Amino acid sequence: MKTTRFLKALAGESVDRPPIWFMRQAGRYLPEYRAIRQQAKHFLALCQNPELACEVTLQPIRRFNLDAAIIFSDILTVPNAMGMPLTFQEGEGPRFPEPIRTRQAIETLQLDKDVLNQQLGYVFEAIKLAKQQLNPLNTPLIGFCGSPFTVATYMIEGGGGLSSGFKNFKSWLYQDPATLTLLLNKLVEASTTYLLGQIAAGADCVMIFDTWGGIVDTPRYLAFSLDPMAKIMAGIRKQHPNFPVILFTKQGAQWLGSIAKTGCTGIGLDWTIDIQQAREIVGNQITLQGNLDPMMLYAKPEIIQQETVRIMQKHGPMPGHIMNLGHGILPDVPVEHVSAFVQAVQQFKYT
Ligand code: CP3
Repeated sequence: MKTTRFLKALAGESVDRPPIWFMRQAGRYLPEYRAIRQQAKHFLALCQNPELACEVTLQPIRRFNLDAAIIFSDILTVPNAMGMPLTFQEGEGPRFPEPIRTRQAIETLQLDKDVLNQQLGYVFEAIKLAKQQLNPLNTPLIGFCGSPFTVATYMIEGGGGLSSGFKNFKSWLYQDPATLTLLLNKLVEASTTYLLGQIAAGADCVMIFDTWGGIVDTPRYLAFSLDPMAKIMAGIRKQHPNFPVILFTKQGAQWLGSIAKTGCTGIGLDWTIDIQQAREIVGNQITLQGNLDPMMLYAKPEIIQQETVRIMQKHGPMPGHIMNLGHGILPDVPVEHVSAFVQAVQQFKYT
């Protein structure tokens, strides 16, 4: 028997109400986060300081008594550890000043396990510190990485690819898929090492964030986004059979059946699919996580409350629902609106 609401729901055991946590729960919408963030000067320095990363991981747990914490870091720490310089400019998001544009640049990315573990040691340290504080609260900790597909879009575009329609990444994908596969395979290997390190440090579950898998057609999604995620999962399960893994592809609703077939424990849903319909597609063996539109948090608290309850009722009392947003919370959402969301779940009872 799992002892926490979150791990129970992931294991498909019954719970009194859905557990709740949300993507980017430690972030700029919280005044206490902004205070620490200022101390750390820049975002990467905050990730790389285990004491501060642990502190911000715990902030949303203290404020809202959420059912799970997620370690404070970023998906782009992996390419950084493989040798790519990374910066975060204020208001601009992540930037790789030397984006990958040649096969040779892929070949020079390093994969030495000891070097990766040493480079990413700050994340493992933060996990150990956070676990010491979370254990007495009986709150599990989620570890994570980005999907190789999503991480590769940033490495090739040099930053967010949305404004250019991911032109560099997609041109490469269609012109020379074999070389792109080389990059994805390297990311599978590094991400597996990284997640195994997080598990060794104490992560209770891991989630793979695939923010951009939804930009391609079905054959490319299956081959270049889902397959690498399945390989990472296989690498983890080889050492930790049945370890809980959640896969989240934004705009991935049309592939839910294929995602379910990978044998993942849970699937993150964005808000574009009805949760009841998602349940019909994936069957009874998989936990669903989501699916309130993060922009719903701009609505009045009464509306937020109603919409949150609507999703929980739509899923219904069968085990296997974790309440979450369909993507990360936005920095300018009022904290009281977040409270309305959390309270709607914490006051809910399955009848
Ligand atoms: O969920 C959590 O609370 C854990 C921490 C976490 C962060 N990033 C912290 C962060 C997680 C799980 C991520 C994942 C991540 N990072 C993804 C996948 C999920 C998603 O949101 O799509 C992606 C694509 C990234 C890359 C990334 N990091 C971007 C595009 C940005 C800029 C966006 C922005 O809001 O400014 C970041 C920076 C980042 N990562 C911030 C946080 C809290 C904001 C930076 C700051 O505090 O200045």
